[in-house]
Amino acid sequence: MAHYLLPILFLIVYSASVEASDGKLSPKFYDCTCPKVLSIVKEGVAAAVKKEARMGASLVRLHFHDCFVNGCDGSILLDDNATFIGEKTAAPNNNSVRGFEVVDDIKAKLEKTCPAVVSCADILAIAARDSTVLLGGPSWKVKLGRRDSTTASRAAANNSIPAPTLNISALLSSFAAQGLSLKDLVALSGSHTIGLARCTSFRPHIYNDSNIDASFAKSLQSKCPKIGNDNVHQPLDFQTPTSFDNLYFHNLMKMKGLLRTDQELFNGTSADSLVEKYASDSSKFFKDFAKSMIKMGNIKPLLGSSGEIRINCRKVN
Ligand code: HEM
Ligand SMILES: *[C@@H]1O[C@H](CO)[C@@H](O)[C@H](O)[C@H]1NC(C)=O
Ligand SMILES: *[C@@H]1O[C@H](CO)[C@@H](O)[C@H](O)[C@H]1NC(C)=O
Ligand SMILES: *[C@@H]1O[C@H](CO)[C@@H](O)[C@H](O)[C@H]1NC(C)=O
Ligand SMILES: *[C@@H]1O[C@H](CO)[C@@H](O)[C@H](O)[C@H]1NC(C)=O
Ligand SMILES: *[C@@H]1O[C@H](CO)[C@@H](O)[C@H](O)[C@H]1NC(C)=O
Ligand SMILES: *[C@@H]1O[C@H](CO)[C@@H](O)[C@H](O)[C@H]1NC(C)=O
Repeated sequence: MAHYLLPILFLIVYSASVEASDGKLSPKFYDCTCPKVLSIVKEGVAAAVKKEARMGASLVRLHFHDCFVNGCDGSILLDDNATFIGEKTAAPNNNSVRGFEVVDDIKAKLEKTCPAVVSCADILAIAARDSTVLLGGPSWKVKLGRRDSTTASRAAANNSIPAPTLNISALLSSFAAQGLSLKDLVALSGSHTIGLARCTSFRPHIYNDSNIDASFAKSLQSKCPKIGNDNVHQPLDFQTPTSFDNLYFHNLMKMKGLLRTDQELFNGTSADSLVEKYASDSSKFFKDFAKSMIKMGNIKPLLGSSGEIRINCRKVN
């Protein structure tokens, strides 16, 4: 080899090894250590979504609820036990978040193929992307290299995950606290184009708000009484709850958002123009959604030697 190439070669090898341990996520993180990671996760997600389309929605939400509580660190996956209280039973998660068995199955396969290499936090990030694609939404390159927490915080889960009763200013503050903008708020809320919500989550909107289509409110009230039936589910997008499309935004423009927080995005503020744009231009919505998902996935990851690679996503090593 010509000797003038050596410094260049050195630089390439050096920067590749630095990338793995310094402060940045990268789509290539597992290229050498677990080249099959993407196909293994995709296979697991595909099997689960084939069995139940809603599981795609549940997996997207798991990544969101992980990232908003002290960063994307797999903390939501830790089980409570006699000596440990985690996030699963926090108010926004209890009897609501789901998909843990799907993550367990994927993790078990990864442990067979590349033991102690792929973090649970990264599984959530990849599964969210794969779920979105499988239900018809956009794709993006998932950045990887997050490590798993050795702690969880029920208090932070109670306080950092936005409640469905918030108004637009409180929603903006909640997202700003994570470094996310108005555009991120509107684009990411577009994932309510898939999945379901419980009566207890949409009751305040259908009984107490005036910014809702009257016949839509009435039909929901017939399924969700003022008292009782807390766990009756309704689709967040009443038109196509298993397709990742932009009809969610059409619904908002017809005053048919299910949650108060959905309709707050089209209620006479500067969010309205984004809703209108995404309703009329689905490819713009898809592009912005992908960008915002990458941004959300970048929230405070544990890197380098911080945290650990959990062997069982439910338990600290
Ligand atoms: C803007 C603030 C948000 C609020 C207040 C909110 C609130 C909620 C609530 C209350 C539910 C129903 C839970 C239940 O009743 O069990 C829900 C479901 C869901 N949320 Fe959000 N959410 C927000 C943002 C997001 C974001 C940023 C994402 C993802 C990027 C997301 C993805 C989902 C999905 C996919 C579902 C359906 C889950 C399923 O069917 O299992 N949400 N959300
Ligand atoms: C979570 O839900 C279960 C079942 O409804 C309930 O028994 C438990 O008290 C709830 N936990 C918390 C912390 O609210
Ligand atoms: C979090 O919310 C749950 C359920 O409402 C409640 O039981 C618990 O006391 C709260 N915990 C903290 C630490 O805020
Ligand atoms: C939004 O909610 C916050 C907190 O509940 C409240 O202080 C504020 O007045 C509300 N803002 C509007 C514009 O309704
Ligand atoms: C509606 O608002 C009233 C007054 O603030 C409150 O007491 C009630 O609990 C609310 N109802 C629902 C279903 O949220
Ligand atoms: C929506 O806008 C109306 C009119 O500006 C306002 O009174 C209301 O507080 C806003 N939010 C909700 C949830 O109705
Ligand atoms: C309880 O959970 C914590 C956190 O995952 C773990 O460190 C601890 O070993 C668990 N205890 C038992 C008895 O499983």
